[in-house]
Amino acid sequence: MKHLRLVAALALLAPLAVPMALASPARAQDAGDVAAGEKAFAPCKACHQVGKNGVGPNLVGVAGRKAGTYEGYSYSAALKNSGITWDDANLHEWLKNPKTKVPGTKMVFAGYPDDKKVTDVIAYLKSLK
Ligand code: HEC
Repeated sequence: MKHLRLVAALALLAPLAVPMALASPARAQDAGDVAAGEKAFAPCKACHQVGKNGVGPNLVGVAGRKAGTYEGYSYSAALKNSGITWDDANLHEWLKNPKTKVPGTKMVFAGYPDDKKVTDVIAYLKSLK
């Protein structure tokens, strides 16, 4: 009898397990899609050249770096003194809205409201060597 009750309980849980299983691919996407990120990086190229400083600083190796510290680039005082280290969370907030994250930054970019796009760009930045 006990066994039957367990089977019944599992049958009740099964519909819950399906949405949970469907949710996991979305979680995998949270890691970001490098190819999509490269496309989303296109507007950034107006200012950021990969591998060297331009209007904006070189972004190779930016993940994990302290903000405003790439050699030879003239940062705003706001970014230099922000105390930020570019971990995923900070990069995410920055790319969603640079001016809110660091008031006074000279990065003239409105930001991407779309979280997926931001996550993809971050994956692309991390792939740069
Ligand atoms: C209109 C020019 C422009 C565009 C477009 C632009 N940036 Fe920037 N970016 C800058 C400038 C200028 C800085 C330096 C900001 C400062 O010193 O306040 C900067 C700084 C950064 C930093 C911090 C670097 C560091 O060394 O601390 C990151 C990360 C960054 N940009 C990523 C991006 C990404 C990703 C995009 C596209 C989604 C983008 N930027 C679009 C001009 C731009």
